[in-house]
Amino acid sequence: MSGYPALPGGIAFGGDYNPEQWPREVQEEDVRLMREAGVTLVNLGIFAWALLEPAEGEYDFGWLDEVVDRLHAAGIAVGMGTPTAAPPAWFTKKYPDSLPVTREGRRVGPGGREHACSSHPAFLSATARLVERLAAHFGPHPGVAMWHVHNEYGAPLGECYCAWSEQAFREWLRARYESLDELNQAWGTAFWGQRYGSYEEIEAPRWSHTVVNPAQRLDYARFANHEHLAHYRLQRDLLRGTGKPVTTNFAGTVNCKSMDLWAWAPELDVVANDHYLVGERTDNHIHLAMSADLSRSIAGGAPWMLMEHSTGAVSWQPRGIAKRPGEMRRNSLAHVARGSDAILFFQWRASRFGAEKFHSAMVPHAGTDSQIWRDVVALGADARNLAEVRGSRVGAEVAILWDWESYWALELEWRPSEDLSYLERIEAYYEALWREHVTVDFAHPSADISRYRVIIAPSSYLLSEASAKNLQRYVESGGHLLVSFFSGIVDEHDGVHAGAYPGVLRDVLGLCVEEFHPLPAGGTVQVTGGPGRVWSERVRLGGATAVQTFEDGPDAGHPAVTRNALGAGAAWYVATAIDPRDLLREVLDRASVARPPGLPDTLEVVRRGPYTFLLNHGGSPVAVPAVHGADLLTGSAFVGEVPAGGVAVVKEDM
Ligand code: GLA
Repeated sequence: MSGYPALPGGIAFGGDYNPEQWPREVQEEDVRLMREAGVTLVNLGIFAWALLEPAEGEYDFGWLDEVVDRLHAAGIAVGMGTPTAAPPAWFTKKYPDSLPVTREGRRVGPGGREHACSSHPAFLSATARLVERLAAHFGPHPGVAMWHVHNEYGAPLGECYCAWSEQAFREWLRARYESLDELNQAWGTAFWGQRYGSYEEIEAPRWSHTVVNPAQRLDYARFANHEHLAHYRLQRDLLRGTGKPVTTNFAGTVNCKSMDLWAWAPELDVVANDHYLVGERTDNHIHLAMSADLSRSIAGGAPWMLMEHSTGAVSWQPRGIAKRPGEMRRNSLAHVARGSDAILFFQWRASRFGAEKFHSAMVPHAGTDSQIWRDVVALGADARNLAEVRGSRVGAEVAILWDWESYWALELEWRPSEDLSYLERIEAYYEALWREHVTVDFAHPSADISRYRVIIAPSSYLLSEASAKNLQRYVESGGHLLVSFFSGIVDEHDGVHAGAYPGVLRDVLGLCVEEFHPLPAGGTVQVTGGPGRVWSERVRLGGATAVQTFEDGPDAGHPAVTRNALGAGAAWYVATAIDPRDLLREVLDRASVARPPGLPDTLEVVRRGPYTFLLNHGGSPVAVPAVHGADLLTGSAFVGEVPAGGVAVVKEDM
């Protein structure tokens, strides 16, 4: 990554701007209002392909020139979109086979967006022709600060099963495997007599009436990620010559299951993420924090951009739940606390027509005489007041392992229990840490993790031998590792590691698992520290000691939580789905991870450089007597208390 865009001062503030939906007088009012709200950056043209190239090979950039000039004259920077997420009707009409096909074999219809297959040759060449022209035309404009490529790759459809994709899959396989023998071996095609005699025999793993080879599915997921990334790279390479940073907005780091964002990050100049609350979850501020921490981790700790979030309700959830008073501000500043140098929204002005007309915006349908507008203007002031925070970094002593390949593999069919989910255990451990006021990084299992005091592996079902060795080295040299059940089970091809579970983790954990005993739907087992859900299993110690025991169920009397002292460190294992808070406290204490004492678990506390962010998600004021310094949001000394629902950003006295 080559760096953050050069933007006007303050935390970047603004959002997606779609002037093509409005007459000129509204566009002029837009710029006046943007200045009033302190907007510094807007993303333009994200879905405007049909207006920029109204017929094949005929380009019309004049209308957008006017908009860019107007914004530039007002000191508002532009993130220029490349509109490839919305191919025009003429393109689809001419190339109907560019419409993606689902795994079930349904061809996607036009009239929405994201309706072109990333492997289709005509889509690739039309993309290249348009982006080359956009680069040449808008690249030199001083008002264009960066490029916003495409929109949310992989959402809503990650994998396409059309004939073009299938052909590209074969090419991808030829490059991945040295020989067909190697492929047959890796996919375990001796099972159900699936052996392939030539690459031509291999098809996309379409829906079938029974389970399709899981190794093939896993490779297809890798391939789909590769194809989208190749489409991005094609554009990035054409935009590079402009000297302006290039990025694409992720469809939510946590929920964008189809893209391996560890692979994307090195291809971007700055990581950009979109985040939307699940309106009906009361703990959604914790999931927001998790998304932000994952964004920062993907960015390697560098400042990243919150490219989209909402001022209020979204239009695509079952119920469009509005944000409560103060919630938008807390959401925005929580992202900044966790490393974002931007607060951007979808979108500037609510659309009067189209699919998203009931989505909130910075300028709602009600206009400026509205609470949302007043809150937006106030947030613009916060963004300016936090200018000095820009570029500072968040430190974390604890990391949770995160691997998209494990996410994909774990959620294929025919696992020992359908109650297993990649996110469920990660969220449980993350939430417990959040409530302990511990800031968390996420790390790939093969990454350098030596700087962390504690590593948590709640969902490492797929784990390579090399990654397991990485974890072992980490423990031997003094690290504290905590592993949850159903981890270390399969290799990169979803093949069970040889011998007893948990394969490559047996040595580091000092145990093996004889058999899984998943619980019936809604069932629980009692363990020493409280109830366990979903899972029970027969753990046999081989060096580790039992810390907690199953008190009932299929493994009554056998270990449920264990600890293995190894080298200078220790590895813990948890054999069921517990509420991990008490156990984590013990592990954190032993690993000397300090937490601020005496604070309620409704107060979010994050340190970013010399700044302490205090976000009160509760209904009563919280005293924080230990923090002293200037509150950047008020410009005065921090009063030692954060009001109900309020935020303070304290630059601590040295
Ligand atoms: C996504 C898209 C935006 C918009 C928002 C609505 O994040 O990128 O174009 O549709 O959702 O929430």
